[in-house]
Amino acid sequence: MIDGFLKEIANMFDFTRKDACEMMRSFQIEMENGLKGRKSSLKMLPSFVRRPKGNEKGDFLAIDLGGINMRILAIRLLGQGKIETIGMKRFSLGKEIISKTEDVFFDFIADCVSAFLKEHKLDVFLEVGFTFSFPVIQTSILSGVLVSWTKGFAVKGVEGHDVVTLLDKAFKRKGLENLKLVALANDTVGTLVTQSYINPLCDMGVILGTGTNAAYPERLESITKFKGMWYSEEMIINIEWGGFDKIKMTKYDEQLDKDSENPGGQRMEKMVSGRYLGEIARRIMKEAFEKGLLGSKELKDIFLKPYSLTTEQLSLIASDKNIFNDSGIEGISDKDIRLLKEIGQIVSKRAARIASAAIAAVLTHMDKELKLEHVIAIDGSLFEKYKGFKENMDTMMKEIFPNQADKIHLSLTHDGSGIGAAIIAASLSSH
Ligand code: BGC
Repeated sequence: MIDGFLKEIANMFDFTRKDACEMMRSFQIEMENGLKGRKSSLKMLPSFVRRPKGNEKGDFLAIDLGGINMRILAIRLLGQGKIETIGMKRFSLGKEIISKTEDVFFDFIADCVSAFLKEHKLDVFLEVGFTFSFPVIQTSILSGVLVSWTKGFAVKGVEGHDVVTLLDKAFKRKGLENLKLVALANDTVGTLVTQSYINPLCDMGVILGTGTNAAYPERLESITKFKGMWYSEEMIINIEWGGFDKIKMTKYDEQLDKDSENPGGQRMEKMVSGRYLGEIARRIMKEAFEKGLLGSKELKDIFLKPYSLTTEQLSLIASDKNIFNDSGIEGISDKDIRLLKEIGQIVSKRAARIASAAIAAVLTHMDKELKLEHVIAIDGSLFEKYKGFKENMDTMMKEIFPNQADKIHLSLTHDGSGIGAAIIAASLSSH
């Protein structure tokens, strides 16, 4: 019975080479439409940033906000691709913060910054790069309006408003007079910029964490919707690929989407990223219970509650750690744990394969015949920590490009999202 169920699930979640090729085609059409300002599920947002030269220098503060763990960093750029982190601290944004109002939210950020500056005895004048990893329409390097929250954030009074102005006001309220906001960036842009500061072959930044997205440098003449002034022939585009909606969905994806806080939005993100993989697996496990396929009744409560199974737990199970050891739940059979592990594998394998297909689509948009070497900067816990995720991505890449996959280098880029904002800030004074 269980084998039959698993087989059915595996078939449903199978993402073949053919699916990948179809997805690449429609992804590229959506990219073109987005660049032209036509209707598209890919926003293709101009970032007002180009790749750095590697000689940018100076001390900067970076605020990296894109999930419930906000990071604040003091960064020293030494030129020649060298970066020193003077200080770094994580602050957790609890549920009460991410669902409150705009002033409570930004005051909290300003308080964290203030605590960080005190701890590191930083009372000098500092330029600040702000990484804000949500879909933002920028009108300059220092202004951007939040289109809509993603990843479960729901702070009132921010959508439709300029997030730089909101943060700046909070800085003023908290008396942080020695700070000057100079740059606003998405985490994918920061990650791309950080890796290309170190390695000029890098031409793509990807996040595979709580959310997912990517950025790449586009020729200015191809961004026909862009009517502003820009001093370079290239501009990095924040694709916002989490919104891509031309992939076949299973009934589990449909239901998850319907029950989510943003139905219809972030379709690809809901199939790929860390915020959702545990939830997809939970929904499948719940069905296994209902079908009487599981032995341990005690588990039922866990699988009844939405989002009670996290991707982190799924990842632990993938590495053969027993997440139920400390839960007080007894009598969980090995068979049930094995089922959960298999389901985790099916769900994460599809995610990795979709991610590779999306990368392949962007690469062949930039370099049709794949003539050049490409370094892809990737950050995020899925890519870094989930057992087998990178391997699944590599396998898909080889299936898509049987003879050229060795030209594609997936390179883990730690803390790139925050450091990148500092590099962008530095590049503003150097061009
Ligand atoms: C956001 C993107 C971000 C990605 C990764 C998505 O939910 O819309 O802006 O880059 O998460 O953090």
